[in-house]
Amino acid sequence: MIKYFNEKHIFDIETLNTSYIIKVDNDDRLRVLYYGKKLINPCEINLDLPTIDKYFSSAEKRSLRSEFPTREKAYYCEPCVAGVYHDGSRDIQLKYISYNIKEQDDHEILEIHLHDRHYPLEIALTYKIYKDNDIIEKNAIYRNIGKEAITLNKMKSGTLLTPNNENKRLMTFVGGWGCEYQKQYLTINQGRFCIENTRGTSGSHQNIPFFALDDGTATETSGNIYYGLLHHSGDFRIDFEKDFTGQLTVSAGVNDFDCEITLSSDEEYTTPIFSIGFTDCGYEKMSETLYDYQFDHHLPQSKIHQPFPIIYNTWYPYQFDVDEEKCLSFIDKAKKIGAELFVIDDGWFGRREKDTLDGLGDWYCHPGKFPNGLRIIADKAHKTGMKFGLWIEPEMINLKSDLYKEHPEWVIRNPKIDVFMIRNQCVLNLARDDVREFIWDVCDRIITEYDLDYLKWDMNSYLTETGNNDGDFRIRFIENLYEIWRRINEKYPHVLLENCASGGGRSDYGLAKYSDRINRSDNSDPVDVLKIHEGFSTIFLPRLAGGAGNVAKNPHHLSGRDVPLKYRALLGMTGSMSIGVNILKSDENEINELIYYITEFKKIRHITQNAYLYRISSAFDSPVTVWEYLSRDRKSAVVFMFANGINFSTKFPKYKLRGLSPEREYCIRGENKSTPDETRIVHGDTLMNYGLSLKPKGDYDCQVVIIEEK
Ligand code: DGJ
Repeated sequence: MIKYFNEKHIFDIETLNTSYIIKVDNDDRLRVLYYGKKLINPCEINLDLPTIDKYFSSAEKRSLRSEFPTREKAYYCEPCVAGVYHDGSRDIQLKYISYNIKEQDDHEILEIHLHDRHYPLEIALTYKIYKDNDIIEKNAIYRNIGKEAITLNKMKSGTLLTPNNENKRLMTFVGGWGCEYQKQYLTINQGRFCIENTRGTSGSHQNIPFFALDDGTATETSGNIYYGLLHHSGDFRIDFEKDFTGQLTVSAGVNDFDCEITLSSDEEYTTPIFSIGFTDCGYEKMSETLYDYQFDHHLPQSKIHQPFPIIYNTWYPYQFDVDEEKCLSFIDKAKKIGAELFVIDDGWFGRREKDTLDGLGDWYCHPGKFPNGLRIIADKAHKTGMKFGLWIEPEMINLKSDLYKEHPEWVIRNPKIDVFMIRNQCVLNLARDDVREFIWDVCDRIITEYDLDYLKWDMNSYLTETGNNDGDFRIRFIENLYEIWRRINEKYPHVLLENCASGGGRSDYGLAKYSDRINRSDNSDPVDVLKIHEGFSTIFLPRLAGGAGNVAKNPHHLSGRDVPLKYRALLGMTGSMSIGVNILKSDENEINELIYYITEFKKIRHITQNAYLYRISSAFDSPVTVWEYLSRDRKSAVVFMFANGINFSTKFPKYKLRGLSPEREYCIRGENKSTPDETRIVHGDTLMNYGLSLKPKGDYDCQVVIIEEK
């Protein structure tokens, strides 16, 4: 519920469990009085805020707590907005003007209008809350309400202020290609630190636009945590600034690197959403809130209630070497093992043989590999009762393509500089509306022509030298990308969309809004995946956790590890399962094993795919990973254990489960590794307080325990 207390000039943004309180001060500036656990009497807050005019004199002693800081009156910290007016002035001083609150069925929106005191710039700050959740979605709309152009070179979405001197530990996820989502802790001291992306096309291989802050003592189940996510798949920047007083301000938005926006008269710019949250119950509750937020509001709602189909994908077995004969044979085998969706990955189009200079841009069937087109593959898949999907990388172009001959001007490059290519390909200028329409037409055509149920959209290059483009082209690139995904969802609500960018390059809340599955990494090595999955699933529902083959092929091409199929298959069950084993070459044993694990997975995916994932023993802290997947109705659970490098002498605790009902009786199966089908009845109380006895051993040990309400 959102309230405004007139006498006190206070906004109270109240979610299920939190209060966010902003005051309009005597000088018409917005100051954050409080953000944290829900307050029963918000008007009792009596925070001694310095007036801005006196701020400089007592600057070393007091903190400003500005909701949307600007550089004014000797305030020197990171501002939310900066720019230049037509007369060359760079001074922006904002003043509160008015507010409105809109109530809808499941949410409420507060809009606060700010105005520059001297120039015609208006900024509407919006706060959207859902009735069933603790997330606050913030964003800002910058409007030029004058006649002359205004150029903005800093236009943040908003801030998150934590209580003074309480928070110092920052948790983020960092990494690179093949090692995304590695957990990192940092201590924030006085000064400014940022996580950011400047690579243009995708934002999350290196830094995920997510953070969690605590006082250094929070655990999975206890402690105050402030967290945030920027919904942006391109260049972002999140600043963490602690001033001398101990005030920590987080501000987030599109990156100002190589970026500015010029607003003509009446034009406006809407920033990406910055979602923030608070919990006093530790990291697990943070993840739960994010899962609910995605399940109930954020992900494409037309498909969220369906079980996600089990995929067979051609990438790991044959890479670019796909053809009609192989695909037709794959469909028979894939059906036999129980897969439900057949996906042709890279290599089906243009003159593509490998990732050299040919093919990207020419989205027509490769005539040599598919002489009869793709429709016969689609028809066979459908006739067999499987869905059919295709890979595409439409933002990219090879210089030896027909598309390049036709539209050399569509490539992002500096004509004076030799083009620097990542993976031998160039990036199309998706900031151009004609390029957006071209890509939309390609998607629209292939979905219809090839009768697709699934589209895997890949993207394998960053921007480097960008030549002569408008200042906002990096923003428009990403906005046009969203627009195409939005249209696909709208026109084809049944088509499942996989968001892939060289693995996890776009595993952020920006493109996730339109995605049914996210390739979290190109690294499917079963041991590396433990950390990648745990990091990824800290902020994403397990159903999204994809990859070209998350039941990996063996030995693994990156690590050389030789890992038993059971381990790989159980790991595949922890997300959205896809098979990367070459089933055209599998012997009968391997086929039978795959049939067994896929059949088992079908029995539990209604629990796992949309589950609350509890990190009972973390892959980041222990050689024994134990994850509990608790169903959304909290009546069943599946526990996975994976262990490596265990010594004979290592001792283990009992693994205490969470979130079950103490009085309820559960039937548990798989507790004893040597008799996996044996069941017994146990109370939730025993499972949560005494715990499960798992006995990890040696290498590649794994186990799945299924717990269902009796
Ligand atoms: C990178 C993706 O992450 C892989 O899954 C695969 O589709 C290749 N690209 C194809 O080139």
